[in-house]
Parts: sequence; structure tokens; C-alpha cells
Amino acid sequence: MNWTDLKTRAAACQKLASLFAQNPNRAEEFSARHGDMLFDYSKTHIGEDDRALLIQMASDADLEDRRAAMFGGQKINETEDRAVLHTALRNLSDDAILVDGKDVMPSVRDTRDRMAAFSEAVRTGALQGQGGAITDVVNIGIGGSDLGPAMAVLALAPYHDGPRVHFVSNVDGADVADTLRGLDPATTLVIVASKTFTTIETMTNARTAQAWMATVVKDTGAQFAALSTAEEKTAEFGIPSAHVFGFEDWVGGRYSLWGPIGLSLMIAIGADDFTDFLRGAYDMDCHFRDAPLADNLPVLLALVGVWNNQGCGHATRAVLPYDQRLTRLPAYFQQLEMESNGKSVAMDGTSLEVNSGPVVWGEPGTNGQHAFYQLIHQGTRVIPCEFMVARAGHEADLGHQHELLVANCLAQSEALMVGRSLKEATDIMAQRGLSGDELDRQARHRVFPGDRPSTTLVYPKLTPFVLGQIIALYEHRVFVEGVMLGINSYDQWGVELGKELANALTPVLRGEASDAEKDSSTRLLLDYLRS
Ligand code: F6P
Repeated sequence: MNWTDLKTRAAACQKLASLFAQNPNRAEEFSARHGDMLFDYSKTHIGEDDRALLIQMASDADLEDRRAAMFGGQKINETEDRAVLHTALRNLSDDAILVDGKDVMPSVRDTRDRMAAFSEAVRTGALQGQGGAITDVVNIGIGGSDLGPAMAVLALAPYHDGPRVHFVSNVDGADVADTLRGLDPATTLVIVASKTFTTIETMTNARTAQAWMATVVKDTGAQFAALSTAEEKTAEFGIPSAHVFGFEDWVGGRYSLWGPIGLSLMIAIGADDFTDFLRGAYDMDCHFRDAPLADNLPVLLALVGVWNNQGCGHATRAVLPYDQRLTRLPAYFQQLEMESNGKSVAMDGTSLEVNSGPVVWGEPGTNGQHAFYQLIHQGTRVIPCEFMVARAGHEADLGHQHELLVANCLAQSEALMVGRSLKEATDIMAQRGLSGDELDRQARHRVFPGDRPSTTLVYPKLTPFVLGQIIALYEHRVFVEGVMLGINSYDQWGVELGKELANALTPVLRGEASDAEKDSSTRLLLDYLRS
């Protein structure tokens, strides 16, 4: 890969102001549309030749072949010898998808139909709790078995017409205790969402919920459901097979929202809206699969990421949705991007020549503006920002508030780009009556360096279809960045060591094992915590 060329070009890039001054069509030429969605990356430092180099790099990394391999069910997750087929879960065509020569689609469709029937039964009251119709659903899961449905249930609140849905993830007993308090065990459905059905947090919380329900309800299994690839373990837990929704190991945890892990979302919004959500993702899949690289939204989003991170060396990126219902989206993207591309070893076992994927973080605007934007505007580090905003909100009677939201979003990317010079700041402060040293001092505090990069994704309205498009857009972006880095985006060995050590520390905390082998810092902390 041409990383040296990329870094050289990034180091020599022109200022945003000159890129715009030289090319009056820059906004049109450095933006792309798909359907009703607009992605503007003109406020990045990527010039025409840079973009050509980035596209060449993607091509040199065999992006098109890798993409075909992923969609085609080949085992591109080489360290786990698995296919990567979350796209099969939203494949709404009649096309077969073969894994090891077998079409996976009949079973995907069958599970989707079973989920639809089950969620309809819960929503209509055909499936009752032992104290009447289900009023509350508690999804117990963590990571990909929590973040996706929790994010999407909140995002699609205007479509929510089913029972209340709650999420428990943390092994901290506070989470399950606070969630269950006030719920009626006799009208609550507990969904245990775990791909492996071994995750300690989830299984511990699930047993706590089972004990809570057993105080009131005779047959707890009747009010439990399970979402897992390990169906035999769900039976051991006492969940009847009619309430078990299985999936295959070719669905990664952080990519699993589209299938059984989305059951809580389906119960909240209904099967039809859930299908619209799948339709949006499928639409983005087709775009990603078919559009030329230069017009391909996921590819362009990835190229911007590679430029900023591996090219310019910016270690983080902020995801800033101007959409309150996307409050959980930054956390969802954190797992999606950092668990996928936070790796320093390439697929072939060699060390990466460049930075791994970036730190991803963020909060919805406008809230973030009153918290951390100070650093984004005037801090010493450059933080590339990814803004998102809808053309219209759901609250027709609050259009004036939506205008304010949009104005703020656009103002931020403008302010980051244009900044405010010392001369401008001095003029402003002079008009306010300052002069001499005080004018100079005060003016310096009011300088904005500007020339800071951002992208903006604009979508018509946060419907299930559009949410599906946005999530799939980012999933494929992660894939493209991973291919360019030469890594496997679909394993997560980096989470294992901490799990192993936690398992070993639990008996030490209980006084059942010795801490003699531990380092002195860990022993000090153990002494304090055991005292
Ligand atoms: O520990 C990381 C992880 O394996 C994630 O990849 C996954 O989403 C999460 O744990 C939960 O795993 P499971 O769905 O198997 O409980």
C-alpha cells in the first residue's frame, strides 16, 4: 500500500479556504448522493489527486474482490474461519447465498417469519404473561447484543406502538435492579440476547431476572425468550424452543441487529416497520455492491476516514448526530468501528505499517456544543467531525425547533472551516471598546484557527428505512477501512485477556484463591476492596 505517498500528500495538503477558492464546484464535486441522502465531504482537505490516490489504494487492496467475497459468503473472517454475512439477514431479494455450498436464505427467512409471528403475538396480547398481556420487555445482553437494539429502539421512538422496552447490559447489579424495580414479573417478557450464551454479564443478569420472576410466576420459561447461536444452552437455561431464535456464526455480534438480536426492536415497532428498517439496509447494500468506487457512499466515507487517520494522523473522530433520538449512535459506532478495526496485526500476521482504526466518540448536537466543542474549535488537536442531520423532524408542530437544530449543525461545520482570525477578533473587541494590551490579550482568546475538517450526512427524516441505510453505510465503511488496512474486521481477540483475568480474579475477591501471583498494584487494590 502506498501509505508513504498518502502521508506525504496529507502533510502537504492545501488549506480548506484555498481548496474552495480554486474550485467553485468543490461542494458538488466533493459530495455524493444516494437516493435522498447527501454526503458532503468537501470540508475535508482531500483534493482531486488525493482522492484519486485513495481510490487507487482501495482498488490495490482488492476492495472489489473482497466485497464480492463478503457478499458471496466466502470465509473472509479468516482467524475464526467464518463467513461474514450480516447482509444475508437483510437480503430481501430471492437470491440464494451459499455458505459451504448451502443456501442460508431459507433458514434466515424462516427465522424472520417466526420472529414476526412471535412479536405480533406479544404486541396483540395473543401471547400473555401469567398476569395478563405483556406490558414490558427487558432485553438482557451486552455489546452487540445490547447496543444495536437499544440504539434503534430509541432512534425509532415515533414508530413505537408495542409494549415498553428496557435494556439491561452491565454486570453491575445496579443495572438490573434499577430496571426491574417497578416492573410486574407477571406481565414482563425477558429476552436473553447472547450470541454465545456464555457471556458472564448476560448470563448473570439473566439468572437474576429469572429469580426475580420466579417469586411471582410459576413457569418463568414461558416469559423468557432467547436469541443465540447456541440453542442447546438456551434449553439448559429453561427456555422453550418456541421462544428461541437462532442464528449462525457468520453473524458478528456487532453486526447482529438485523436478525434475532433485533427482536426487541421488532416488538417495539412491529414487523412491518422492522422490514422497512431491513429494506433501508438492503438498499445501502445494493448501492455499496454496485456503485462505482468514486460515487459509493460507504467507500467515500471510508476514504475520508483513512485520509484523516492514517494520512493526517488524527487519532480520533467525533460522530455528532444533530438528532436527539440518535443519542446511542456514537456508542453503537464505537463498538462497530473500534472492535472491528482496533487492531495492529494484519490478516497475514504482520504488524500494521500505519495507525489502526481511530478512537470514535461523540454526542448529539446541540448538547455537545455546550460541553466539548470548545476543544474541537480551539484545542491544540484536530478532531475530524462527522455531522448528521435530518431535513425534517417528526414533530410537525415544532418545525421552528428543527430549523434551530439544522442551523446549529451547519454553523458548526462552517465555524470549524472558516475560523476567526486575530485581525477579525481584534476588530470585534476594539468595537467593544478595548484597546492597547488588553485588546491584544482578549482578542487572542477569541481566535479560532479554523481549517478543521468535517463531513455532513443529510437524510430526509429518521424513518426505519433511513436508519437502516445509515447503519449499513457505517458497517460498510468499517469493512472498506479494514480492507485498506489489511486487517480482519470481524474478530475481536482484544477483548479476551480482560475476560480471562476477571474470571481468575473473582475467586481471589471471594477469598477462595491467593493473590500471591498478582502485581503489587493489583494486590493493593484487592486489599482495599476486600477490607
Ligand atoms: O466481548 C466482546 C463481545 O464478544 C462482543 O463482540 C459481543 O457483541 C459481546 O461480547 C456480547 O457477546 P454475546 O452476544 O455472545 O453475549
